Amino acid sequence: MGQFITFEGVEGCGKTTQIRLLAEALRQTGKTVILTREPGGCPISDKIRHILLDAENSSMTPAAELLLYAAARAQHIAEVIAPALSSGSIVLCDRFIDATVAYQGYGRALDLQQITLLNTMVASGYRPDLTILLDCPAETGLKRAIDRIEKNSADDATTLREERFEKESIDFHKRVREGYLNLAQQESDRFVVIDGGGGIKETAEMILSSVADRIRT
Ligand code: TMP
Repeated sequence: MGQFITFEGVEGCGKTTQIRLLAEALRQTGKTVILTREPGGCPISDKIRHILLDAENSSMTPAAELLLYAAARAQHIAEVIAPALSSGSIVLCDRFIDATVAYQGYGRALDLQQITLLNTMVASGYRPDLTILLDCPAETGLKRAIDRIEKNSADDATTLREERFEKESIDFHKRVREGYLNLAQQESDRFVVIDGGGGIKETAEMILSSVADRIRT
């Protein structure tokens, strides 16, 4: 079995930059690394991502949202995560089950026990070995995320503005952050919380040393 590392955090916490840097650093040491993300990671789940993040779908119910994330995950595990882990690769995944607890549980106030049950049904046997939580205040992250969406859409007006969640209230994003911090406290063996407000290089070094402590060689 390979090793499964996930990255989590509020919008704009910097995890996408950091997960790429970690992938590069691990590849340089000769490791086989699969870099993937949720929702998405394979063709069917990418189509579901499009539905989930399109701001035009503002009437989506919380239950429909929850089940679409679960559907995207089931397909992604079967097509990408499970085969990569059984071939001994390191899988780096940008968001996984904890995002459902934080966003649909704490953010949307859906029942946490039902979410845990659904996560177990979809992802049973595929728990991350390590989860890096890049923490930053919801206001800081949201501003960064909105600036990035504006820039991407100015660079290419045809790209989908993936902003359904960026349009949520600041209170929603504060609840998501609180959810992540609670999870990190409850599962302190699995989580490493890193300040997402630092410089890119220093943060990457902190992440690499947390991972190096845990990676089997
Ligand atoms: P990303 O912007 O980090 O790619 O994530 C896509 C969005 O989907 C982000 O706003 C968080 C949200 N999300 C959930 O609400 N629940 C989930 O289970 C996952 C994986 C992501």
